[in-house]
Amino acid sequence: MIHIALPKGRLGEKAYEIFKKLGYGCPEIEEDNRKLIFENRENDVCYFWAKPSDVSVYVERGAADIGIVGKDILLEHGSDVYELLDLGMGKCRMAVAGIKGQRPAADKTLRVATKFPNITRNYYAAQSREIEIIQLNGSIEIAPLLGLSDVIVDIVETGTTLKENNLEPFETIVPISARLIANKASFKFQYDKIHALCEKIQAERNAES
Ligand code: PRP
Repeated sequence: MIHIALPKGRLGEKAYEIFKKLGYGCPEIEEDNRKLIFENRENDVCYFWAKPSDVSVYVERGAADIGIVGKDILLEHGSDVYELLDLGMGKCRMAVAGIKGQRPAADKTLRVATKFPNITRNYYAAQSREIEIIQLNGSIEIAPLLGLSDVIVDIVETGTTLKENNLEPFETIVPISARLIANKASFKFQYDKIHALCEKIQAERNAES
């Protein structure tokens, strides 16, 4: 049986729809209930919903064989997993942003508010730029507006949140999209099943484009 970690929310639901279309459906997951783990022995699959930022932890430690996760989470955690496919969903970018028209001076220590301290540290280390990280857990956009930070490093999807708060993107750090990842041991021992699933997803994507 393949154990699949799905990120709770829209991305996970979309990913499940793809699996279902390819013959990995699990009727129980579609019922209106509050269960978190769902099995379908007929299709040899077991799904569970995880917090999106935890998916890579389940997969890395082998509690799930495969999972769907944003590239942002993989980069932030530095997860030791195989990245099998770019699913082309959940597209957005990691960007530096700040108050419109107020690019901070380059000679001062930059105060950066973010949920992604490792991505931020690596990005500025590559530029030898001195920074102070202010780690927050959400609503990052508020930080520069209240003078808590000079800039933010955050996900930009449509850009609406920035725009409506008088902020603007200054630099793109990296493009982000959803990835199919696999536990390294599972990939070896369940190679046929996981490989077959990847082939089907790839064929489906090719047919769509
Ligand atoms: C994310 C991100 C931005 C917003 C960007 O927030 O942190 O705030 O989406 O989307 P946009 O460019 O389409 O406006 P999320 O909804 O994940 O909530 P958060 O405040 O907890 O980060």
